Amino acid sequence: VISLTPPALATPTTTGAVPATCTIYLHGATVTSWTVNGREMLFLSSKAILDGSKPIRGGIPLVFPQFGTYPGAPLPQHGFARTSTWRVLRTDVSPDETKATVVFVLTSSDLSLAARTAWPTPFRLEYTVTVDAVHHTLATDLAATNLATTTEFDMPFTWLLHTYLRVDAIEKTEIRGLEGHLYVNKAIADRDPTTQAFPALPIKEETDRVYQNVVPAAESHLHVLSGGRPAVEIVRTHGETAFRDVVVWNPWVDKAKAMADFGDDEYRHMVCVEVGDVVVPNAVSVAPGETRRAGQVLRALL
Ligand code: BG6
Repeated sequence: VISLTPPALATPTTTGAVPATCTIYLHGATVTSWTVNGREMLFLSSKAILDGSKPIRGGIPLVFPQFGTYPGAPLPQHGFARTSTWRVLRTDVSPDETKATVVFVLTSSDLSLAARTAWPTPFRLEYTVTVDAVHHTLATDLAATNLATTTEFDMPFTWLLHTYLRVDAIEKTEIRGLEGHLYVNKAIADRDPTTQAFPALPIKEETDRVYQNVVPAAESHLHVLSGGRPAVEIVRTHGETAFRDVVVWNPWVDKAKAMADFGDDEYRHMVCVEVGDVVVPNAVSVAPGETRRAGQVLRALL
């Protein structure tokens, strides 16, 4: 477990709060906690299994190289990144000590035999996490490199940052920034694409929507609001290769009860807003020797 606290700000303020902290497990390189002035911004289930035997239920699990599952899928649901043990490549502190960074790496040789057999393309995945105590941000950045040496081995994949945000009360929560975009509702049998008609998406029932091609633009950052006030801003980085798709997920009552690693009432205190490239016609393909980069910056606004 890595604790990432910018040194200059590691001392509690007069209110007793540390301005910024972050905790990351080597299991899945899963960020499990990010606090801003003592306020926890991420949701981690009280029933999350942290011993490495399961993906962690909460924080920011990494989905790579397969989003979800489908008949004939080579890998288990959401791929192997969230269940592999990552290595720390380096840690860094900014000269003014207000930012702390850790870089993790995962390559084919770190995978279980089962995962390597199912996904034989040699690859390198770098994951950079930066906590900034002055700007109240957490940046999570992915870079995937295809290490194949022969040109026929393109590396197609889907990937996503499965961010579980903590919310005060789900009935007061809404997501903004998705208006006018097409989505598929995976929570119902009818999977015809529908257009998001309204600026706000409230969460009032089981929600499992995959919004397609929500091209990031300065004026269309995603926002999570609590009681009508912006609580978190999600900015997608890396310009042309930025994540294009956005998944919004809340299991609601019945699915919550069915999950062993999720408390029955915890759906009231979380929403997943997940940025990635997951819609298959949009999915990413990286040529041998090339690298694809994408990431997000979460900014606490309350
Ligand atoms: C979301 C999917 O990204 O992840 C949902 O859209 C899925 O369909 C959810 O239920 C959680 O997945 P898991 O494997 O962590 O239980």
